[in-house]
Amino acid sequence: MVTDWEDLKYHSGFGNHFSSEDPRCPNSLPKDQNSPQICPYGLYAEQLSGTAFTAPRETNQRTWFYRILPAVFHEPFSPVKSDLITNQWDKSEPNPNRTRWNPFDIPSIEDEKKDFIDGLATVCGAGDPCSRHGAAISIYACNSSMNDRAFCNADGDFLIVPQHGALRITTEFGRMLVKPEEICVIQQGIRFSVDVDQPSRGYVLEVFDNHFRLPDLGPIGANGLANPRDFETPTAWYEDRECEFIVVQKYQGSLFQSKLNHSCYDVVAWHGNYAPYKYDLRKFVVVNSVSIDHMDPSIFTVLTCPSLKHGTAIADFVIFPPRWSVQEHTFRPPYYHRNCMTEFMGLITGKYEAKEGFQAGGATLHSCMTPHGPDSACYESAIKDECKPMRIAEGSLAFMFETSLSLALTHWSMKSCHRVDHDYFKCWSSLRKHFTGPK
Ligand SMILES: [Fe+2]
Repeated sequence: MVTDWEDLKYHSGFGNHFSSEDPRCPNSLPKDQNSPQICPYGLYAEQLSGTAFTAPRETNQRTWFYRILPAVFHEPFSPVKSDLITNQWDKSEPNPNRTRWNPFDIPSIEDEKKDFIDGLATVCGAGDPCSRHGAAISIYACNSSMNDRAFCNADGDFLIVPQHGALRITTEFGRMLVKPEEICVIQQGIRFSVDVDQPSRGYVLEVFDNHFRLPDLGPIGANGLANPRDFETPTAWYEDRECEFIVVQKYQGSLFQSKLNHSCYDVVAWHGNYAPYKYDLRKFVVVNSVSIDHMDPSIFTVLTCPSLKHGTAIADFVIFPPRWSVQEHTFRPPYYHRNCMTEFMGLITGKYEAKEGFQAGGATLHSCMTPHGPDSACYESAIKDECKPMRIAEGSLAFMFETSLSLALTHWSMKSCHRVDHDYFKCWSSLRKHFTGPK
């Protein structure tokens, strides 16, 4: 039994083919074949396919589980009502406005017990899990552990960004501790449970099309940004426990639940390359201009989920970590711009460099072609700053989900969460002319 989550062991590397056995059952992985007539220890063999059987070798992902009972052993699914999780984007009017949310509420346990599933609410999204194209952004805010309850997303992959409170995540592959300033990815179809020790909050990016991968590095070379060795995947861990256990499955945007008479975390050994992972954002190797000009934020891409359009992501996960700023005679904050992509930003900790009023645990949305950029105070200060080498974003960590999709907002995010900052547009209302006129 694992008692100390801080001491968990992980497999190192991104996209590797791992082999993992719970040390209590040595040699539980079958030798030389995937599906022997009888598996070691009397285990069942079960494959989890993360790509089509026929996907090209370089993108093909699957894992073989060796488990006490196969996942098929469950009662029929029945619908679960959820007002907060949705993939139906036609329920709200289009809204191109720059939107900022004050920190999302974390429910008090005295008021209402909420676990990760209860506390998951969709903010915005586009596309359709049925046609396997699209993305959704959600907030989770919870105060309780998922006791004998697992979640499984049949619609896509989750990239989870904890902002407040560490998550103790049990998966069919083993366990991982994910703290703020770390992220994890739990792919389509993987059952997992989230335990918390305190009221907790964070952000979730869900993609329907594809799995996340590391961005190409081009002329940067073989190293930099997120290095593959820094990604960590759980090692096999099982429990042989009979109990009333619920699996909640998101399927075509709706929730369903099914009863098991045992814990679903009964995988004694597994091997394969379709497995969840975590990453410590403080290990990101920042690359930037060391001469002039503000580079595009794509230089800060941690993970990308590619679309079929070359070089264009369904969604990128981008961070703005503490770093040196050294560009000469340059307006150093982000430039003013309009973008064919849509930008959702969150703040994990500290103060964001380009704007007052953006708070940790809150968010902003700058939609497709909606103008945005630094606020007036930031502009006035940056044009006077001496461009000497300096540390920026010290003690802070902002991130962006950038998508080629045009996102629709939910009723919860615009109305019922009551967190929209209706004065956000005023950030830019005191911008003044500096035009000197013709000379
Ligand atoms: Fe932008």
